Amino acid sequence: MAIERTFSIVKPDAVKANKVGTVVGLLEEGGLTVVAQKMIRMTDAQAKEFYGVHKERPFFGDLVAFMTEGPCVVQVLEGENAILRNREIMGATNPEEAADGTIRKIVGTNIERNACHGSDAPETAAVEVAFFFSGSELAALAR
Ligand code: RTP
Ligand code: MG
Repeated sequence: MAIERTFSIVKPDAVKANKVGTVVGLLEEGGLTVVAQKMIRMTDAQAKEFYGVHKERPFFGDLVAFMTEGPCVVQVLEGENAILRNREIMGATNPEEAADGTIRKIVGTNIERNACHGSDAPETAAVEVAFFFSGSELAALAR
């Protein structure tokens, strides 16, 4: 195991529901540390590029509309095996299938409005962190 960094989003549904603290608390209780965090309003172009891997999927338009409907919180999380650990803390994509105690079970509403995003591999984590955070922003937060 190794200390990793991963990229996370508290999605607009969770922000709207005033659940930012709930999500961050579950991440922290799960052993991850927030090392960078900011609230943004994702643009249409950003959402389309960020979720570009899904552009042929039938839900793509709805997903872009959802991710741009209001502010979200983008984060860099650090910890032991952070990429996999974050996915465990998040739970299954569909909140109905997510395990008890997971973010998506507690805060998610349905397969689309599912409260959080987490990178799925080291390569995507690196790309996604760089998509929303500049090198100087991260350097300024180094401890
Ligand atoms: P994410 O990328 O947001 O961490 O979610 P994930 O890996 O668990 O799931 P993924 O398959 O990558 O899907 C990305 C996001 O698209 C929305 N979605 N909607 N309507 C649908 O059938 C559907 N399927 C997926 C969700 O917001 C999902 O998290
Ligand atoms: Mg995904």
